[in-house]
Amino acid sequence: YRRLRVALLGAGAVGSQVARILLQHADELGDRAGASLELAGIAVRDIDAKRDVDLPKELLTTDAESLIVGSDIVIELMGGIEPARGNLLLALNSGADVVTANKALLATHGPELFEAADQVGASVYYEAAAAGAIPIIRPLRDSLAGDRVVRLMGIVNGTTNYILDRMDSEGADFGEVLADAQRLGYAEADPTADVEGYDAAQKAAILASLAFHTAVPLDAVHREGITQITPSMIEEARAAGFVIKLLAVCERLDVDGAESISVRVYPALVARTHPLASVHGANNAVFVEAEAAGSLMFYGAGAGGVQTASAVLGDVVSAARRHIAGGVGVGESTRANLPTVPIGNVVTRY
Ligand code: NDP
Ligand code: HSE
Repeated sequence: YRRLRVALLGAGAVGSQVARILLQHADELGDRAGASLELAGIAVRDIDAKRDVDLPKELLTTDAESLIVGSDIVIELMGGIEPARGNLLLALNSGADVVTANKALLATHGPELFEAADQVGASVYYEAAAAGAIPIIRPLRDSLAGDRVVRLMGIVNGTTNYILDRMDSEGADFGEVLADAQRLGYAEADPTADVEGYDAAQKAAILASLAFHTAVPLDAVHREGITQITPSMIEEARAAGFVIKLLAVCERLDVDGAESISVRVYPALVARTHPLASVHGANNAVFVEAEAAGSLMFYGAGAGGVQTASAVLGDVVSAARRHIAGGVGVGESTRANLPTVPIGNVVTRY
């Protein structure tokens, strides 16, 4: 086997699980990848911080840049814009393929990263950046590339679904359930991103860009969070046969004869008989309507360290396969990652 040097940036809720699985199942993953995956190091802020998983101390470093240079695959699970952006650009320019779950970064600097990857013939993998463990990036980009998606609608934030679900089922207090979501590793480092709908809006921008083959800027996404939702609203909705869910809706629209798209995130009344009403806890679900395929539904864990690690490691195996094949013919082409076909104005309707 060829040996591939893997650098991991971040050992929090997701990163610590990725490291654990990479170390425990190195042989099996190596067989699938066709290469030996060697975890060269793990960049963190504080080497002595308490972690969900006991990691070999000798792998931990605070010097991310030295770890990146010379690596074949760089996995970014730090979150935030900087230093994640700079680190991924350094990784691409050093010849590595990169894997990230960072939707905040992709929704704001995705085109810059894809362009950088394109220039050096590298690839950016980001299956974990939308809807956690659910495979949705590849289906939209690859499996549905021959079809025409007309609408995508879903629950794409686990924290808010967990909060709304417990408020609905047990009358739980917003603040207490949010604290549980943080403890369980579902929430972002700053949970405002979850409860104010920023995280869902970032995912909606990423999914809409793939679904409609265009670059949907984050500021074109209408966004409302769940902080205004009160127990009495939930009760009223229940009495009327509805449940309140934070939805992301992305659709093609005909605006005065011109084709446009609309992307919006807002708390919606969902009929209790609708399949989305049965999405409980931190689960997510995405419905895709395509012209030829009809309706497709993707469902599963939308947040959580170990669940998200599944999607990240799938990307690592794909990146390794592509890397050892010399970056051609196998896996993902960077071109396919780069939305370049504008379809008209992006409008917001709600
Ligand atoms: P955490 O906040 O739990 O972990 C972040 C990790 O990154 C920590 O280990 C931290 O180090 C390290 N880190 C942060 N900043 C730096 C820095 N400047 N230099 C070096 N290391 C740094 O985040 P999560 O694991 O929850 O999330 C990681 C990414 O995955 C985010 O982009 C998030 O949006 C995304 N994601 C998260 C999901 C989830 O369910 N949690 C699901 C899907 C995606 P230290 O430990 O020393 O503080
Ligand atoms: N904070 C995010 C959520 C993590 O709750 O959905 C998964 O992207």
